Amino acid sequence: MTYYIGVMSGTSLDGIDVVIIEQQTAIPSKLIAAQTYPFEVNLRLGLQQLIETQQCELKRFGELDIALGKAIATAINKLIATTTLTATDIAAIGSHGQTVFHLPDSQNAFSLQIGNPNVIAEFTNITTIADFRQRDMVLGGQGAPLVPAFHQGLFQTAEQNRVIVNIGGISNVTTLPSSTEQTVLGFDTGPGNALLDAWFSRHHDGQAYDYDGLWASSGNVNQQLLNILLEDSYFKQAIPKSTGREYFHLNWLDHILEKCAHLALLPQDIQASLVSLTVQTIAADIQRYADNSTAIYVCGGGAHNSYLMQQLQQALPNKAVLTTSELGLAPDWVEACAFAWLASQTLANKSGNLPAVTGASKATVLGGIYSSNDAS
Ligand SMILES: Nc1ncnc2c1ncn2[C@@H]1O[C@H](COP(=O)(O)OP(=O)(O)O)[C@@H](O)[C@H]1O
Ligand SMILES: [Mg+2]
Repeated sequence: MTYYIGVMSGTSLDGIDVVIIEQQTAIPSKLIAAQTYPFEVNLRLGLQQLIETQQCELKRFGELDIALGKAIATAINKLIATTTLTATDIAAIGSHGQTVFHLPDSQNAFSLQIGNPNVIAEFTNITTIADFRQRDMVLGGQGAPLVPAFHQGLFQTAEQNRVIVNIGGISNVTTLPSSTEQTVLGFDTGPGNALLDAWFSRHHDGQAYDYDGLWASSGNVNQQLLNILLEDSYFKQAIPKSTGREYFHLNWLDHILEKCAHLALLPQDIQASLVSLTVQTIAADIQRYADNSTAIYVCGGGAHNSYLMQQLQQALPNKAVLTTSELGLAPDWVEACAFAWLASQTLANKSGNLPAVTGASKATVLGGIYSSNDAS
């Protein structure tokens, strides 16, 4: 048996998702164990501040990179301890790391993930693969999204035109046409939960998120505000495209709200309008790029927000809005499983990006390999 570990911590900063998968053939793979390990408070605050302010002393930056590497390694060791496996059973870890900056549309484009892989390899004694995004960007790609190749391998079928929607801090879609002749597309649609969490937290003493969208559902969508939010140029930008929390954050919203002071909005109306922003941008992109799809499978934490899921179903009345559980993989683990699979690709010297998705000039092997101590 070959086992891989995948580690993901997305823009929501809710915790470190760790999965262990058993690789059967290339794909499908079987989920053996999975857990989300919440960040220790100071580490979370440090990361949040770095991402939102984009300001940090180099000393602080280096320390955060190491501290996160240690937190990831600890999470991995804890998950392994819940199984009968040991480090020697695991072929490799694919660690996405925490994105602290993503700048795909620059002459010197880069994407910066921290969570030092040297620390992870040393503290787990397992070969660790990290820095998955950069190689694609060197080839002119967005470096994102990288999950569509995994979605394609696991979820594409000749029976149905499908779309996979990952609603994490940022939302991204993968179109999976029933005909393999048609190109698989994938891109970030814009905000997912990050703005919802930030606005909710500001009005609820720092609580993490609006459980089930209850607060949002107590408000009313304000169409004027929604129209202004939808005017952002990102939504009109052609694909390939990707974005991050350093763009869609609370300052972005505050700036717009300043212009809407005359609307006298209630905070819960703003929350309802933000849910609508997430839903409308996802739905518009599905209609634009995958109008022939009949089923939408949602993954990421947004799949648990029943208010958001209902709104998405209303916005796409002719399609079934479901979660990836219907396809055999719970919404919480899809991304981490993708990075376990990407690690297996890298170790086999196979490519992990889809050039039609990222815009890279060719498919390439992704990431850097930090070998375990036992490497011969
Ligand atoms: N029961 C729930 N109700 C509402 N929102 C939820 C629920 N469960 C999870 N979420 C949302 O999902 C987010 C985490 O999603 P996740 O896919 O882990 O995002 P990321 O990839 O950015 O870390 C939370 O911050 C929260 O906004
Ligand atoms: Mg998460």
